[in-house]
Order: sequence, then structure tokens, then C-alpha cells
Amino acid sequence: MFLIENYIEENKNIINNFLYEYFQKNYNYNEDNFLKKNISNEISKINTNSSIKDAMYYTVSLGGKRIRPIFLLITAECLGFKNKSQLLPFACSIELIHSYSLIHDDLPAMDNDNLRRGKPTNHVVFGEAAAILAGDALLSEAFIMISDNEYIKHFKCDIILKIIQELSFLSGAEGLVGGQFLDIINSGMSICNEKLTEIHDKKTAALIKAACAMGGILGGADDSLTASLKNYGTYIGLAFQALDDLLDITGNSQITGKTAGIDENNKKSNIASILGADKTKKLIKEYTENGLSCLDKTNINFNMLKDFSYYLTKRIN
Ligand code: IPE
Ligand code: IPE
Ligand code: MG
Ligand code: MG
Ligand code: MG
Repeated sequence: MFLIENYIEENKNIINNFLYEYFQKNYNYNEDNFLKKNISNEISKINTNSSIKDAMYYTVSLGGKRIRPIFLLITAECLGFKNKSQLLPFACSIELIHSYSLIHDDLPAMDNDNLRRGKPTNHVVFGEAAAILAGDALLSEAFIMISDNEYIKHFKCDIILKIIQELSFLSGAEGLVGGQFLDIINSGMSICNEKLTEIHDKKTAALIKAACAMGGILGGADDSLTASLKNYGTYIGLAFQALDDLLDITGNSQITGKTAGIDENNKKSNIASILGADKTKKLIKEYTENGLSCLDKTNINFNMLKDFSYYLTKRIN
């Protein structure tokens, strides 16, 4: 019997190993190398004991749920794509962009957080300048990864181009970065639900959309199926951020690995503080069901993706 929990556990390990080996290839990673180094006591100063690769790999290696690469793998597998190792570089490229977004999101100029994935944030360890640069380099690294001949040789050029288009567009000004910008400029303001939904769609759903679209394209989806997968990703991304907002209020820092209540400290609009816990849970369920109905219209068996969607509504971190 297929159990989503087992699938996630198994694939998280596969993803972590791929990322470890990728960094190991051109950088001699040694855990003691940076974890034992002194944490910067002045975050405005760069930690001169460390390299840019230390700062990049630090946040990537701290783990996290790896949900974006898993979205890509499941989507392609639902379409019958069997060779997981060929999918991994594309799946992991999204995790590099996600990790960069977390490093920048935690900076003093943004959410000013000192806890991420249960560990001190990147700028706390390496200094602010190094954290900015590590984020920049991870963004480039994602595109180095998905244009590496070793990985793209299994696919036609037009497939790779479509992938690059989706990932660059959805992580840029119309996607993740645009959403983060709106999130910042609207802090401290009382905003309408439509605006907050737009922010969540861009800052969070965009990368989930990218993962589903990329998994679809690699699995042979045509434009219409790719569009349905992106619609699904929009709803699931909105559900994901609504639960992130709820966990910011009700979650346990030991479990989330993040500072509890930081949205209120930063005067960020938080959907759960606007609606209350019960209505937020109802909204998460509605978004998830809307996402699943986008899949139902395709006549493809997306049961694994559906199981994953429900699994995510029950997460506590
Ligand atoms: C956190 O993402 C940022 C949001 C978009 C809400 P995740 O909750 O996926 O963080 P990790 O990767 O598991 O640490
Ligand atoms: C951030 O949303 C989304 C990103 C693009 C990183 P949050 O600021 O709520 O994410 P967390 O709670 O810090 O992970
Ligand atoms: Mg933020
Ligand atoms: Mg944040
Ligand atoms: Mg949050």
C-alpha cells in the first residue's frame, strides 16, 4: 500500500543526498568546517573564517521539509516518469532558490529573525554581507544546476527552456521576489483580503507552482495540463501560507524551528490573526479542495499528489 509518510521520508533522504553530493563535488564540505567556528558576534561584520560555499551550504544542509522538490517528483511520477535520478537536479534547483529566499527573508532588513530550521539564521552565523551574497549565489547556482550538460542531456532543449522560463519567472518580480516586496511594503498596514491573497500567491505559491509545472513539463505535460498543475499549485500554496501564518501564532518554536509570533512583532498581516484559528483552518481545507478539483478536471490519476496535499494540511512544522 502507498503511504505518503513513507514516500516523503524516503525522498527527503534522496534529495538531501543529492544536495550533499552536489556541493561535495566542487567544495570540500566538512561539518566541523563551519559549525564549530565562532558565530559572528557582530552581524554587520562578515565572518572572515568562512567561505561563500560555507554560507550557502549551511542553510541548504539544515534540512527543512523539502516540500518543493517533493512536489516536482510526485507530479512527474504521477505522469508516469520513472527515472527519479533524472528529475533530482530540477527538483533540487527549486530547493536552492527556496533556501536563498529563507536566508534573505530572515535578514534584519526583512523579517529580522535569528532562528531558522532550528538553528541560528545565516546572517547570525556568517554576518549580514555574507548572507546576502550566499542568497545571491544560491539563486545563480539553481540555474547552473539546471543547465548542466550532465543533467540536461536526457531531455530535449525545448523542455529545458520551458523549465528555465517557469523557474525564473515564478522566482522573480512577478513571483517570489515581487511577493516578498509587497509583504515588506505592506507591513504595519491594514490590508484587504485580496491584497493579502496576492502577497501569499506570489511570495509562497509561486515556487510551489513552479515545482508542479516543472514536474509536469518533465513528465511530458502539454500546455493545458501544465496550466492545470499551476492552478493546483496556486491553491495549495495559499493553503500552505495560511497554515504557516497559523503556526506562527499557535505553533511551538521547538517544532517549527522558527521564532513564534514574529509576524506580530513585525506588524505583518497574518491571515490567521485576521480570521482567527477556526476560520483559517476552514480556509485551508477550502483551498486544498479547490486545488484538488483542478487535478480532477485532468482525468489523470493524481492520487499521490492528493495524498501529499492532505498531508500538508496536517503539518505542525
Ligand atoms: C517557509 O517554507 C517559508 C514559506 C514560504 C512559508 P517551508 O515551511 O517550506 O520551510 P522549510 O523548507 O521546511 O524550512
Ligand atoms: C516567507 O513568508 C516566504 C518566503 C518567500 C521566504 P514568511 O516570512 O512567513 O516565512 P517564514 O515564516 O519566515 O518561514
Ligand atoms: Mg517574510
Ligand atoms: Mg519570515
Ligand atoms: Mg511565516
